[in-house]
Amino acid sequence: MSEKIRIGTVGLGLMGSSIATCILAAGHEVTSLVLSISEAKTAQKRIFNFLSELSAEGLLAGDPEEIIEKITITDDVSIFAGHEVVIESITESVDAKKDIYRQLETVLSPTAIIGSNTSAIPVTILQEGLAHPERLLGIHWAEPAHITRFMEVICGKDSDLKYAQQVVQLAESWGKEPSLLRKDIRGFITNRIMYAMLREAFNLVENGFATPEDVDRSLRNDLGYWITFAGPFRFMDLTGIPAYLTVMKDLFPELDNTSKAPQTMENLVSAGAKGVSNAQGFYPYTKESAARWEEKFIEFSFDIRKLAAKYNEEFK
Ligand SMILES: NC(=O)c1ccc[n+]([C@@H]2O[C@H](COP(=O)([O-])OP(=O)(O)OC[C@H]3O[C@@H](n4cnc5c(N)ncnc54)[C@H](O)[C@@H]3O)[C@@H](O)[C@H]2O)c1
Repeated sequence: MSEKIRIGTVGLGLMGSSIATCILAAGHEVTSLVLSISEAKTAQKRIFNFLSELSAEGLLAGDPEEIIEKITITDDVSIFAGHEVVIESITESVDAKKDIYRQLETVLSPTAIIGSNTSAIPVTILQEGLAHPERLLGIHWAEPAHITRFMEVICGKDSDLKYAQQVVQLAESWGKEPSLLRKDIRGFITNRIMYAMLREAFNLVENGFATPEDVDRSLRNDLGYWITFAGPFRFMDLTGIPAYLTVMKDLFPELDNTSKAPQTMENLVSAGAKGVSNAQGFYPYTKESAARWEEKFIEFSFDIRKLAAKYNEEFK
């Protein structure tokens, strides 16, 4: 695969926009498919702002005004003819995603890679019914995708490993540190572990052991402090393995293992809470304080990227 090929993306919502920004910033031209061309102007502005953020942090080679010219936004799928890689990041729906793959297969060559930014749909399910399922992979990004180093590249049952390896190589040139999952599993790595943590967090709160503030405080100051540096296995090496075995034997039988979603979540979602995006969540917000949290999160994402880069270089 040649170095600076034109990359295709589908969907310019929250994640699609930061994904397109990341790829543009890495020096590629990008073609993005949107549902309606009326979205193009807003999406282009959002991407330009992301590029400007990167530039202000000294993380962009080039001028945002020139780089933004390298994106073509369209509602015509036939424009993908000749593209070697197309990354889909549309609504998390099996039917909607499969519909796009069917359309893509009518214009792409059989060896062009299709990647899905699904959060948790098994790639094997998305491959069902495709003419060339071997070229479909999960390419799982973390928000904000133009700043984070995270990526999981996931093979479904029918994926050809060579395509996954090509994506890993390409993503490394985008500043990512991809993990390769050779076998498909729902939720992949981080979401499986994050949701196990969320289940236990709700267990503690809903059963009156701690408030959301207490849970957040403990995790920010313990796990939050070390996990960018070490990851769980390295952390056990650093802090002494045997004690973990003792705790596992005592604690595992007591951890929550319900398969039901928490009632607190059901209640919040039916009340319309989306989080800081609509200033309704676990914590009270005004429009202004919600916007400040969003801004601080971006600022922190840049800081943590710099900090992690410093230590990763040293310890790789
Ligand atoms: N938000 C996150 O933090 C996050 C993290 C990892 C993965 N994901 C995954 O990324 C995907 C997108 O999530 P999001 O948060 O950006 O959602 P979003 O709702 O912000 O964006 C989805 C976009 O897809 C567009 N779309 C829908 N059907 C389309 C079609 N047929 N053609 C072109 N565009 C279409 C919509 O217009 C919308 O702009 C989902 O699969 C989600 O699970 C999200």
